[in-house]
Amino acid sequence: MSDIDALILRRQMVLGRNSPLFYDRPLHLVRGEGAWVYDATGRAYLDVYNNVPCVGHCHPHVVDAIARQTATLNLHTRYLDETLIAYAERLTGLFADPLDSVMLTCSGTEANELALRLARFITGGQGIIVSDLSYHGNSTILASLASAFPGGELFPSFARAVRVPDPVHDRQGRTDAELAAAFAAQVQAAVDSLKADGIQVAALLMDSFFANEGLPDPVSGYVEQSVEIVRKAGGLFICDEVQSGFARTGDAMWGHQLTGVTPDIVTLGKPMGNGYPVAGMVTRRDWVDRFGAASRYFNTFAGNPVAAAAGMAVLSVIEREDIQANSRRVGAHVRAGLQALSAKHPIIANVRGRGLFFGAELIRPDGSPADVETKQLINRMRDNGVLISRAGRNSNILKMRPPLVFSTDNADHLLSVMDDALAAL
Ligand SMILES: Cc1ncc(COP(=O)(O)O)c(C=O)c1O
Repeated sequence: MSDIDALILRRQMVLGRNSPLFYDRPLHLVRGEGAWVYDATGRAYLDVYNNVPCVGHCHPHVVDAIARQTATLNLHTRYLDETLIAYAERLTGLFADPLDSVMLTCSGTEANELALRLARFITGGQGIIVSDLSYHGNSTILASLASAFPGGELFPSFARAVRVPDPVHDRQGRTDAELAAAFAAQVQAAVDSLKADGIQVAALLMDSFFANEGLPDPVSGYVEQSVEIVRKAGGLFICDEVQSGFARTGDAMWGHQLTGVTPDIVTLGKPMGNGYPVAGMVTRRDWVDRFGAASRYFNTFAGNPVAAAAGMAVLSVIEREDIQANSRRVGAHVRAGLQALSAKHPIIANVRGRGLFFGAELIRPDGSPADVETKQLINRMRDNGVLISRAGRNSNILKMRPPLVFSTDNADHLLSVMDDALAAL
């Protein structure tokens, strides 16, 4: 039995047979640096998948901040802590009015749960609207809303799902304006349907960048119109930025800035601590005050001094290394490269995304989704030292979101390995 097979067996014995692992031949990674990770034999892999280590694997400034604070003091937030306050000031300073306060959590799930509690508290409603291919977390409520990774729970009677606006597949000869209106009409129908059941809408919970939905091209005006409909009905817009935040899209620090809509609540997670668990919810101070007084919310590990130090270090690196500009520049380079590949390999039907969150949809000549080929491609690229994954309704959209220190050289390496793997399909 190989070392890898032995590890897989041991893992199955204690974590269960279905604890997911990537790739037909799972990887045993032991070290990371920048955009690279290394397996137990010392082989290097270019990481084009992991968005959590956003400023690069094991960035020395973040490592040092965490290590120093861990060696000094680590407690919960019921004591005064200078770093936490400074971090919250700096983070909220990156949002437009009236988003001026933050409540910290340990995961994106907790942030979205808290956002739903807040929305229900503020509006008095219970209804929730999500996209029909969403994932917002693993708690009881959020898992029941998830159709991107369905967990078997019943879709709740207080929720409605609206179709993801995907112009590539749903245009049917319509202009952008007609498309936006048609999709927004589904949000109105969801509000009306809740109302017909005696349920007032509390929130539209949506990632305006549609990361888990397979990165459809934005339908200009869709988010604005949908949010207007929900607000008119007394609900709030919770924008899930767990994936699209922290300069990922290149053109903005936050994904919602690309839509022109300022959400009522923004939820954050994944890249926030470069791997240390930091997540949270940004919203208005008066709501936080009212909710805090009524709920006495407390979260043992959230916002502790080490979490605050990690979060602060990430923001410093994003600023110092001009990470957003890199995301924009290298993202444009890689998308141009993918377009060139699509001319050579017609199985690439369209290229998607923005900044360093990009994808490509694979379609067969007969128009059917090339799901089997997508899986083969991903495994072949893994064998050739490049890590990517897939998403979408038919699991045929390549999903790529490397650490934001990804360089044009890294991008060229990705494109060259993908070119070879496509040729071998
Ligand atoms: C858009 C989005 N929201 C929320 C979550 C949940 O975050 P966490 O796994 O930190 O609970 C995820 C996780 O994949 C996500 O992709």
